[in-house]
This record gives sequence, C-alpha cells and structure tokens, in this order.
Amino acid sequence: MLDAKVSELLNNQINKEFYSAYFYLDMSNYYEEQGLSGFANWFKIQAQEERDHAMLFMTYLQNNGGKVTFDTIDAPNKEYKEFIEPLKETLNHERYVTSLIHTIYDAAYSVKDFRTMQFLDWFVKEQGEEEKNADDIIKKFTLFGSDAKGLYSLDTEMGARVYVAPTLAI
Ligand SMILES: [Fe+2]
Repeated sequence: MLDAKVSELLNNQINKEFYSAYFYLDMSNYYEEQGLSGFANWFKIQAQEERDHAMLFMTYLQNNGGKVTFDTIDAPNKEYKEFIEPLKETLNHERYVTSLIHTIYDAAYSVKDFRTMQFLDWFVKEQGEEEKNADDIIKKFTLFGSDAKGLYSLDTEMGARVYVAPTLAI
C-alpha cells in the first residue's frame, strides 16, 4: 500500500504533467502563429512527452493500489512578446517540475518506499535532461536567433526533432 501523502503527491503530479503538456502546446501554437513551424514542432513533441509522463504516473498509481482523481487543468494562454520568452519560461518551468519530483522523492524516502523511489529515479534523470535541453536552446537562440539566417537555421533544426516514446517500463 502506498503511503497517503506519497499517493496524493503522485496523483497531483498527473495534473502537473498534463498542465505541462498544455503549457507547451500553447507555446507551439504561438510559434506556429509567428511562422516558426520548427519551433512549433519542437514544442508539440515536448507536449507529447509531458502527456506520456502523466500516463506513467497514472499507471504507476493504479498498479500500486492508489486512486486516480483528476483535477481541473489550468489554462496556460500566455502572451509572448519575444521569441525567446517561451524558451526562458520552459527552463523555469522545468526547474519547477524538478522541485515537484524531488518533493515526491523526499516523501517516498521518508517512509522507506523504495519502489516509488526507484520509479522516480527515471524522472530525476529525465529532469536533468529537460533542464539542459532548455538551457541549450536559450544559449543557441542568444547566439544565433537575432539574425534572420540564424533564426531560419535554428527553426530548421528545431523542426527536425522527432517524437521518441519514453524508455521507462513500469
Ligand atoms: Fe514532465
């Protein structure tokens, strides 16, 4: 049986991951409107990954006797004035998600829930990659994004991202 607090945090995380998907789809829509279809593609795939994360938390909870309760997903609907803004928001958001994962890990650790800790290990590593990816894109945009040719190249590169299903098996 899962500890009540751990179970609650895992359930909340489903909502946070679906929100993340919404958040990134909103960014994808913004870039699509701006004519940067490569950036739009990158964020659409990012959203797919977040949806996968939500499903992983849901399956883990169900497989371990927890109850899944859906809450309202907040609307992102942000207004962006500059191309770099969503990139910076992405890094901030991923840092926030890292803190959420660490909070669940901490709760599992405190009750010696080794199974949940092992499940979360994948997410701890994944968050490291998410933060690095976001940081890399900001750096590239800062270097090349202000020039039209550089922006075009970057958009082409972002457009080459393909969806890869998560490697985590529950
Ligand atoms: Fe995620």
